[in-house]
Amino acid sequence: MTAAAELHGPTRARAAEILARNDLGHYTVPTHGLYPFQWNWDSCLSALGLAHLDEDRAWTEIETLFAHQWDDGMVPHIVFHRPDEGYFPGPDVWQTGRPVPTSGITQPPVAGFAVRRLLERTRDAEAARRRAAALLPAIDRWHEWFHACRDPEGTGLVAIIHPWESGRDNSADWDAALSRVPTEGVAPFERRDTRHADAAHRPTEAQYLRYIWLVQHFRALGWDNRRLHDASPFRVVDPGFNAILLRATADLAWVADALGAPEIARRSRDRLAAGLDAMERLWSDEAGQYLCHDRVAGTLVPSRSVGGLLPAFAPISGMRADALARRIEELAGRCRYLVPSHDPAAEGFDGKRYWRGPVWLIVNYMLADGLAAKGKARLARRIVDDSLALIDAGGFAEYYDPMTGEPCGGKEFTWTAAMVLEFLDGRDGIPSGDEA
Ligand code: DGY
Repeated sequence: MTAAAELHGPTRARAAEILARNDLGHYTVPTHGLYPFQWNWDSCLSALGLAHLDEDRAWTEIETLFAHQWDDGMVPHIVFHRPDEGYFPGPDVWQTGRPVPTSGITQPPVAGFAVRRLLERTRDAEAARRRAAALLPAIDRWHEWFHACRDPEGTGLVAIIHPWESGRDNSADWDAALSRVPTEGVAPFERRDTRHADAAHRPTEAQYLRYIWLVQHFRALGWDNRRLHDASPFRVVDPGFNAILLRATADLAWVADALGAPEIARRSRDRLAAGLDAMERLWSDEAGQYLCHDRVAGTLVPSRSVGGLLPAFAPISGMRADALARRIEELAGRCRYLVPSHDPAAEGFDGKRYWRGPVWLIVNYMLADGLAAKGKARLARRIVDDSLALIDAGGFAEYYDPMTGEPCGGKEFTWTAAMVLEFLDGRDGIPSGDEA
């Protein structure tokens, strides 16, 4: 145990307790009530926390997710392992026809990154190599699916076709694109999220109507991923999502090298090189960061959200990393806790409403990791310190108001607890939360 972990003993114990409480044996729920199933990127990031307690259990978390990979290669964003009336939209709305019901869209592909990290840190090299070797082709197939189905013109970058795919559901980044999604013909529904969390912290009714319209639209197309991209009125190239895919692609190449799979390594490096080149088209000098590209309108989206800072997590150039660090320093002058999911000075900022302003620990983790790897230890350290200060003041919430630190959304959150264990551990260049 590092000095940091000892110093924060009670915090560490509480994080472990939350992971145990949300552990249903072969998968974790993000939190009971609000999210009663398995979520894709929640699970992969939570596995990093589980590994501190039980490495075998950490691998199982990712394996369970991949057991529900579709035949076309997609890994769905939700696996509905067992019925629960407390969530909407459930399997009856998605109707994807899977043996164990799943949603029909995907989520940020952090699996390649998580598998590398588990493999690199393992205390049981033989078991880890065996389990990573079984996941390697499945992750490669998922990446292949992204390029085939979400980048049909071969631009090097993939689009999301539903705001839920980004993981940043109600970001201001989607406002213009989402406003073009119709609402006619949406079957009447009752939201359940607002039974579990404050409605003022959640997406609006108008956004939900459009989220559901898109689900119904894709359902009517039989969830045929060869058709969904072109048929969606919502197609946005998110720099944050692509940065995660690029980082996972680089990490998958590393895993492939380590396990002697040269074809996967080569394919991954080719995709990485093409993606990094294409990412330059999302850079805006005026914004001082990356911006989304609306593939339907053919324009960059002038919304300065954390999605445009997340490329710090990918192997971008030192010059771009310097600029992103400057931008985060600028945000530090506008809020008490880094890193807000939207610029507090921008229109549309709301410190409590989900992805329109709140701080998320998983985002802080990816940013701190990327910044530390690019020599920005001081800024990474500030992000880690702010993250742990939020935990000390408000517990293990889903997200936090960057101005006041108020805990928002769901409580006792799995991936928040996982990130705390990672911060306290302080390996891989992420400064740990000890000596101030
Ligand atoms: C929700 O239900 O709020 C989720 O973010 C969708 O995945």
